[in-house]
Amino acid sequence: MAVDHILAELKALAARPLAEATAPPKGLYHAPEILAREQEKVFAKGWLCAGREDEIPAPGDYMTYELGPQPVILVRGKDGAVRAHANTCRHRMMRLVEGHGNTSRFTCPYHAWTYGIDGRLAAAPHMERTNCFDRDKLGLASVRCEIYQGWIYLTLDSDAPPVAVQLASLTPVIERYGQEHYRTIFTEEHVWDTNWKCLTENFMESYHLPVAHRETVGANFTVAENEFGEVGEDEDFAFQYFTKTEGAPVGRAHPANDRLEGDWRHTSVMPTVFPSHMYVLAPDHLWYLSLQPDGVGRTRIRYGAALAPEVIDSADDSHALIAEKKAFLDKVQVEDRHVVEGIFRGAGSPLATSGPLSWMEQENHQFARYLARRLCD
Ligand code: FES
Ligand SMILES: [Fe+2]
Repeated sequence: MAVDHILAELKALAARPLAEATAPPKGLYHAPEILAREQEKVFAKGWLCAGREDEIPAPGDYMTYELGPQPVILVRGKDGAVRAHANTCRHRMMRLVEGHGNTSRFTCPYHAWTYGIDGRLAAAPHMERTNCFDRDKLGLASVRCEIYQGWIYLTLDSDAPPVAVQLASLTPVIERYGQEHYRTIFTEEHVWDTNWKCLTENFMESYHLPVAHRETVGANFTVAENEFGEVGEDEDFAFQYFTKTEGAPVGRAHPANDRLEGDWRHTSVMPTVFPSHMYVLAPDHLWYLSLQPDGVGRTRIRYGAALAPEVIDSADDSHALIAEKKAFLDKVQVEDRHVVEGIFRGAGSPLATSGPLSWMEQENHQFARYLARRLCD
């Protein structure tokens, strides 16, 4: 299908009400030209989530992240602030550092140019005969980095409005949970064989919970209590609420939780920050995915989880508790991987056509409208 035709179909879909909406045209998931447009108009513009602030709690703690084509170092400064530097040496552009750790400086493995954690060039050997060497002008390039509710967001777009502005109407809903105090229990990187939008759309709808996840997060889930947050037409996020019935192993406030009251004690909020940061924020835990495309049929996933502080503090054996929570979420991941890789293969088949959406897929339609706003102009 020609790209113009795919985009025209997407635009027409975005204009329809939910009751008249289908899933997007299948070409949206498979056309390389669509991916190129997404890289330019979605991923180079939006805020992407690089993880959680508590992964680098102490001065000198750092971790790396691939922001599209730009490798980034995230580091906690001596002043306590998190900064993002380009992970590319100012000499001959070598990558400075991999993984995560704690350091007082970054020394390039190629010729040992050495940078402070503030990004300034501190030393460079054998440059005394070079007239155009000016140490003060050779600091690491900085990348826009903002902290919002414990999340680290990055963008390459100097014009993007601040995260807290973009998510202003979400803040009063989620701040009651105190998620910035939740403690990260793991962060992992995965690559799945699917289009990134199959994963975003899958995470955003609870329609599949009682079916694909009947043995995990679909249990103790009441369809009648699945509600959607009110979001303005042009906002770049969506969210929903769901509840967990009594006896549910996850999703209910610990007795020592004094932040949440009434129904909030068994209610979760599930925000998706477009394009690709999505999470479940529950009274006792959170878990998230942050996605980037790596080809039309490959998606890089940062996957992690955190527990409310009282949940960890009251555990007899916190290692066993963390292992148990992770095993549960890993099982959910296996269930999701099966469907999102299956959808991608299905969308590439000649007889496939996208069908009508349920009311439970309201956010998928909001996402289609977001894509139309970004891709169709
Ligand atoms: S490329 Fe880094 S010191 Fe030469
Ligand atoms: Fe799922």
